[in-house]
Amino acid sequence: MSKIFVDACFGKETPYTPVWMMRQAGRYLPEYMAVRAEAGNFLNLCHDPKKACAVTLQPVDIVGVDAAILFSDILVIPDEMGMDLSFVKGEGPKFSDPITCEADIERLLGGDEAASKLTYVYDTIKLIKEQLADDKALIGFTGAPWTLATYMIEGEGTKTYNICKKMMYSNPALLHKILAKVTEVVKLYMEKQIEAGIDVVQIFDSWAAAIETEKYDEFSWKYMVEIADYLKAKYPHIPIIMFPKGIPAFLDKVYGNFDVFGVDWSTPMALAKEKLGEKYVLQGNMEPCRLYSKEATTESVEEIQKTMEGKRHIFNLGHGILPDVPVENAKHFIHECHRVSKKI
Ligand code: CP3
Repeated sequence: MSKIFVDACFGKETPYTPVWMMRQAGRYLPEYMAVRAEAGNFLNLCHDPKKACAVTLQPVDIVGVDAAILFSDILVIPDEMGMDLSFVKGEGPKFSDPITCEADIERLLGGDEAASKLTYVYDTIKLIKEQLADDKALIGFTGAPWTLATYMIEGEGTKTYNICKKMMYSNPALLHKILAKVTEVVKLYMEKQIEAGIDVVQIFDSWAAAIETEKYDEFSWKYMVEIADYLKAKYPHIPIIMFPKGIPAFLDKVYGNFDVFGVDWSTPMALAKEKLGEKYVLQGNMEPCRLYSKEATTESVEEIQKTMEGKRHIFNLGHGILPDVPVENAKHFIHECHRVSKKI
């Protein structure tokens, strides 16, 4: 059966514009909180294929999105490379042993050794594929090497990125060593996700905006393109979505063999369409906080539809849904995307 979401990724005409939401499986859903409580904590949930499968399917069943996204986290990659990941309540992710020198990088597992340890992810994908309706797509994902490296170097989330940027300007060779090692793992990790059954790949570069435009290609985009090239050579039928958050000044320089460009909420959709709309399908880009108001949601969905005219477009938020959004409003967003884009 053809999947409307996959068709839309390749720019084919579809009966309506498909929609999903970044972070659609998460804390705004009471059903998610119940499964997470059973698992004990977030990482246990990621490691338990049955439970991870259940929360992956929740937004499809409850909110009505057109694609499921694998429930996991980008940080399981450095965790399985040998860094010790934990999630501290109220503070977010932490690595107890951040990378500071070459010996720290050498100690980490690389390539297939690391990718082979993520079996719980591949098992989750297989379970989801058994249960997901045939007309819905399953999105697999990874963090971009740069976004992963920020956590591996800083040891946690950061507002200033001062430790990794010190490395960028004073020891760029060391940063490139980290990025290259992570890139090799990600290539094989995504290949194994595809072999396990995902229909679409999304690469999240959530912290793209931390890099000045002149340096963005060198330290992030080229590694994302390397991953896309590797996957496209083997799996041309699997669409690839690139989501670099917050880089409007880089739009003129975007290049590479991928299918969909994810537009974040700070980039006007009309600008993205003008610069990239012919070459790539565009995904996005409602400001996620509009979900607090049904009126503000409808206004934005109508505006985005007016710009994209139902062509070469996938609806989404311009970043992740927040935990205190009412479920009813998320349903309203999905309903409105379908309503405005439906072609009789
Ligand atoms: O529904 C989905 O989108 C799939 C699941 C998913 C999660 N994380 C689950 C999660 C995805 C795609 C991610 C990606 C991710 N993880 C990114 C890139 C995407 C983005 O939003 O830009 C990043 C930067 C991370 C790292 C990460 N994971 C942070 C900073 C945090 C803490 C933030 C917070 O909201 O507490 C996480 C935890 C996390 N990942 C949660 C979920 C549902 C919250 C955990 C919980 O409390 O249950």
